[in-house]
Amino acid sequence: MCGVVGYVGDKKAQDFLISGLKRLEYRGYDSAGIVTLAEDGTPTLLRAQGKIVNLEEKLAKNKRDDKIGIGHTRWATHGEPSENNAHPHRAGDIFVVHNGIIENYKELKEQLKEHEFKSETDSEVLAALINSFYHGGKYNLADAVVQALKLVNGTYGIAVVSTKNPDEMVVARSGSPLVIGVGNDETLIASDASALVGHTKRAIYLNDGEVAVITKDSIEIKTLNAEPVSAKVEEIETNLAAIQKGGYEHFLLKEIMEQPESLTETLRGRVNVENGTVRLGGPGLTEAELRKIKHLIIVGCGTAYHAGMLAGYYIEQFTPEITIETVIASEYRYRSAYIPKDSVALIVSQSGETADTLACLREIKKQGVKTIGIVNAIGSTIAREVDGGTYVHVGPEISVASTKAFTSQVIAMVMFGLTIAQAKGVKSNILRPYVEEIAKMPEEIRKVLSSVGDEVKGVAKKYCEYEHAIYLGRDTAYPTAMEGALKLKEISYVDANAYAFGELKHGPLALVDDRFFEVALIPRGHLYEKSLSNVQEVLARGGHVLAVTNADDIGLSVDSVVKITTSLEIFAPILMNLVSQLFAYYVTVAKGYNVDQPRNLAKSVTVE
Ligand code: G6P
Repeated sequence: MCGVVGYVGDKKAQDFLISGLKRLEYRGYDSAGIVTLAEDGTPTLLRAQGKIVNLEEKLAKNKRDDKIGIGHTRWATHGEPSENNAHPHRAGDIFVVHNGIIENYKELKEQLKEHEFKSETDSEVLAALINSFYHGGKYNLADAVVQALKLVNGTYGIAVVSTKNPDEMVVARSGSPLVIGVGNDETLIASDASALVGHTKRAIYLNDGEVAVITKDSIEIKTLNAEPVSAKVEEIETNLAAIQKGGYEHFLLKEIMEQPESLTETLRGRVNVENGTVRLGGPGLTEAELRKIKHLIIVGCGTAYHAGMLAGYYIEQFTPEITIETVIASEYRYRSAYIPKDSVALIVSQSGETADTLACLREIKKQGVKTIGIVNAIGSTIAREVDGGTYVHVGPEISVASTKAFTSQVIAMVMFGLTIAQAKGVKSNILRPYVEEIAKMPEEIRKVLSSVGDEVKGVAKKYCEYEHAIYLGRDTAYPTAMEGALKLKEISYVDANAYAFGELKHGPLALVDDRFFEVALIPRGHLYEKSLSNVQEVLARGGHVLAVTNADDIGLSVDSVVKITTSLEIFAPILMNLVSQLFAYYVTVAKGYNVDQPRNLAKSVTVE
């Protein structure tokens, strides 16, 4: 969602602000803005609706050598995308950029009669509130920020500068990430470490309830209650290559194609094929604790939810006496669900910042249940708040639609399930096939990706005119179908929904007509024949079926078949999902839409 950047140092602030905002474009946004301050405090405020190129057009006529500034990409929540609603917001001498939501903004606005509001945003209320303390000189900037934040309900990651003091910046966070990059004679801030890559490798991740006063060569962190915090400087692991397209036309294609490598990173040091075992250090559960687990609750949103559901289907195949429930975080956080004793919660999130998932984590922890993170973004809030965790290590995922993270999330969770099964004494002949297939998977993914590309591209051309799609699957192919439908709808805007094959007769079959096409995922295995019967039912009603299978010949006259050749049986649906990913990609390219930044969506959903 929104992105925040800031700079104070010896170089031109505008340069970093624009390049930093571009790095954050992937998060999703609909307007952008920056403000810089000259040595005498004169501000240059530039804002534009739409993409950063619009802002750059304004910048071309307003180049400044200013050495301090803040910037923002806005994803509209309160008020439409427009220049007036874009950040930074000004109140008196101060400028503010804000990620998050001020929930009590209406009530606060009532009390801020002296400020003439120019936008419809909650963020301008925050600016006016800070200024109400700052104006008149009773509080310095940091103290004014603290006083204001004490009155605020909601979430924020903010950066504030004042024309009266153009050497310092104040930043604070609660619920929205904020990273401080420690440079040489410069300090940079961003809502996401990827904006800092190439500038510094040293970063301080601010915690909720902390405020930092930043100059080019000093960083002073306190809590809102004025207790000093000693900053922990961590290393940013991401390199420049990981956040560039590397010769691909789109990040999405790059991320689909790099799955052999990204999964290899997930598996590194964790799989022992000879012994048929896996070992995860991160969860930090003893053998005795693992043995005691009777219930797994898996929490996520979007793709992470689908990954959890698919992993759950696998884990229950080999783990005895365990119940598994996979839940959507935005629902679960408000349910009155009872979490049984001896439960462990898996908190699944690529970004580690999703607001609903984070809220569930906190809720579940309150109930005394152990939480294990399945997270990609290192140092993210969820990663830091869980009791233990397994990073999936797929590297930055820039495209809004999640691809490589899904594959690795599923496998990381299955590996966690295997560690439970090992501890519970499940015989190695039951677990070994899973371990062996996991070990082979990066290579199998490579083979599928290098063989089906052109074919899927051709098929995508054939179906790209349809407005509706139905994805179908049974058992492990069902969550896979859900993920396939999500990919297609989020980037190509085709109305795509997934159903379990067995549910067809309970409603969806009524939809089948020439406006629809059906993607049938048909892995070999014990439900193969049943899936084929369901496809026949669709064909009998004039369906336009695209079958994805690892069988040699499904023996049905469907419209199209994409056949994958693989030695994997258990995890064949994950390979079929590669076809769904490529299919969604090529349909979107054929339609000419923005593949990496679909309309209305954001990569990191930090508000509920
Ligand atoms: C957004 C993204 C999805 C992602 C979901 C959960 O909707 O666009 O790609 O699956 O959030 O994100 P998380 O970072 O928690 O995995």
